[in-house]
Amino acid sequence: MRGLSSERAPVPQDPAGASHPAHPIPFGRAPGSNGLAAGAHAVMAGVTRIFGSAVHALGPVDLELRRGEFFSIVGPSGCGKSTLLDVLAGLSAPTDGTITFEGKRVRGTVPDGVGVVFQEDASFPWLTVRDNIGFGLRRAGFRGPEAEDRVRHAIDFMGLNDFAGAYPNQLSGGMRQRVCIARTLVMRPRLVLLDEPFGALDQQTRLLMGDELLRLWRASGATVLLITHALDEAAMLSDRIGVMSSRPGRFIEIVETGWPRDRTSAIAAEPAFGEVTTRLWNTLREESLKAMASQRRVAG
Ligand SMILES: Nc1ncnc2c1ncn2[C@@H]1O[C@H](COP(=O)(O)OP(=O)(O)OP(=O)(O)O)[C@@H](O)[C@H]1O
Ligand SMILES: [Mg+2]
Repeated sequence: MRGLSSERAPVPQDPAGASHPAHPIPFGRAPGSNGLAAGAHAVMAGVTRIFGSAVHALGPVDLELRRGEFFSIVGPSGCGKSTLLDVLAGLSAPTDGTITFEGKRVRGTVPDGVGVVFQEDASFPWLTVRDNIGFGLRRAGFRGPEAEDRVRHAIDFMGLNDFAGAYPNQLSGGMRQRVCIARTLVMRPRLVLLDEPFGALDQQTRLLMGDELLRLWRASGATVLLITHALDEAAMLSDRIGVMSSRPGRFIEIVETGWPRDRTSAIAAEPAFGEVTTRLWNTLREESLKAMASQRRVAG
């Protein structure tokens, strides 16, 4: 296992290369089938977001997501994490700076190939699990055996076979979140953005969901950006973790974990895991102390 490394200046790095899933592809996409060379997958350059004239929520932020990596973001509450995700996804326009996905500028709409999973349970209560998962496909005009096949695969892969005909209110919170993840993944996104998808779950379920997410990440070859409050979750799942400052959120450190691609939650037992969480906590603690000191100066 490679050692932990980190950089204080989050300069975009040269990508090591495209990822190649070691397992069968559950949703049928061959790795590299989009014909793009290995390298930067999504890039934010000098991105800021100011709400109205007063709330400077984000940036300036420079971020280069490497193709196929698992990148997590941690940072104090209200520092601009969800704002970053919205801007990156094309759901909200940046005040300044540019965003590119697969070499094309992102503006105004969520690009084809980008999937978003929100923090809140976004399942439709009036649709069964099967119809929830197939919803996006139907809207995109997919019908017939291919659509059915994709939905069947997704249900099977997410372990929801016994609940395909059930309604969300008949499921646990973790299962509902699995439905939401499956509904996004069935569209075969090449970049998956997740905003605290496990926030409402208990610790044990979060660990299990984390393992599922790792399995999906490996199998699909997608690039994953995960926002989380939980430092252990970020440390366990990620290739790299971006630590944000308090608002306006900027990256103050990027930690590279060096975990092998076939990791599971068992990595939490490794001594290096403790090093990663300690480094994340120290950086966040320093940042919180600085923010508190400057608030005191303003108040005094
Ligand atoms: N539509 C909006 N209009 C005005 N201010 C906003 C809007 N959306 C977010 N903000 C402000 O921008 C800042 C960043 O919000 P954001 O939701 O991105 O934080 P966050 O890091 O995701 O927080 P949390 O960890 O609590 O989810 C906050 O001060 C918030 O009040
Ligand atoms: Mg948020």
